[in-house]
Amino acid sequence: MGVKKRALITGITGQDGSYLSEFLLKKNYEVHGVVRPSSTLNTSRIDHLLKYPRKSHENVQLHFCDLSDHSRLLALLIETRPDEIYNLAAQSHVGISFDQPILTGEITGIATAALLDSVFRLKLDSKFYQASTSELFGNTPPPQNEDSILEPRSPYAIAKLYSYFMTRNYREAYGLFAANGILFNHESPRRSERFVTRKITSTAARIAKGSIEKLYLGNLSAIRDWGYAPEYVEGMWKMMQHDRPDDFILATGVGTTVREFCERTFSLIGKNYEDFVVIDENQLRPTEVENLLGNFRKAEKSLGWKPDTDVNSLIEIMLKSDIAALNH
Ligand code: NAP
Ligand code: GDD
Repeated sequence: MGVKKRALITGITGQDGSYLSEFLLKKNYEVHGVVRPSSTLNTSRIDHLLKYPRKSHENVQLHFCDLSDHSRLLALLIETRPDEIYNLAAQSHVGISFDQPILTGEITGIATAALLDSVFRLKLDSKFYQASTSELFGNTPPPQNEDSILEPRSPYAIAKLYSYFMTRNYREAYGLFAANGILFNHESPRRSERFVTRKITSTAARIAKGSIEKLYLGNLSAIRDWGYAPEYVEGMWKMMQHDRPDDFILATGVGTTVREFCERTFSLIGKNYEDFVVIDENQLRPTEVENLLGNFRKAEKSLGWKPDTDVNSLIEIMLKSDIAALNH
């Protein structure tokens, strides 16, 4: 067995960080994760990978650091000297970014520059992956590809735009292996309930079990291109193994409205979504992104990546998991 590769993952406690950790461990990586200190435990998505309490894996090490602490980030890079850095940490909620635009700018934007600049100043050979997003496209008409116009419409997307161009700039100016994964929405049973898919499946699961609650939603007409998160983390890794750093879209190429997502979820529990969904104006965004639908041909051609799970299978996976959790 050869020398283990070392990966540093910011945002390891998030949906993608947890799946990426599992994926890299299977590839025999040593995984280092950046965790922000909190008063309550925030490692539930990766507890099964930690030495304590379950002793199931020896190759994960966590490091406390808030992404706003740039000197600590620098120290972590000196300490870990990673072969690959996956910058997944972010204030990742679009709606919340309207309430916290400055914080979102610091964590989702400026911290990326701190990481890139540290890699450059320390003269590390680390490859750098930036978690870019389809939100960059705003209302540019679909299907969006790597050459589509970027028109961000939220503080979140604007912060991500800064990170996207910083990543490109460090690649072009200093020759860093720095890649942007422009990922369209990807979901799973590990998705936070603050995002619409999991909000819908978890509420439907409770209703299937007899709850009499309503489901409060905002814009039902928005179209999203929803894929399955474990497949997308493999795409991230493939970008880092490519012969040169580049920017790639990962998507399914199929658009579904929030309304259709509700309709299909509730039909699986034998109910009509219209009997449960209530429009809540608080969930509407000051500026909405109406239609995201990605063209993933470049990733398919260059990386051999393509999605396997369609949106209907995704709904089944998420709903089944939410119902199973209630049975425990
Ligand atoms: P997520 O579940 O919201 O995870 C975000 C991660 O960032 C969590 O580990 C969170 O820690 C961490 N974080 C937040 N603020 C931090 C801070 N101040 N210091 C240190 N860590 C902090 O997001 P995700 O769905 O896994 O997405 C991963 C990345 O891809 C994000 O950058 C997101 O913006 C981007 N992205 C996601 C999608 C998608 O559809 N999922 C699509 C395109 C791009 P806690 O666990 O403590 O909150
Ligand atoms: N969260 C939420 N809650 N969204 C709602 C609700 C609700 O109650 N009702 C309707 N929506 C609509 C939103 O207005 C949006 O049009 C759509 O559902 C999807 O919202 P989210 O699930 O919050 O995801 P997002 O598309 O805004 O952002 C996610 O995907 C991006 C990639 O396109 C996040 O994961 C971002 O971090 C990611 O970059």
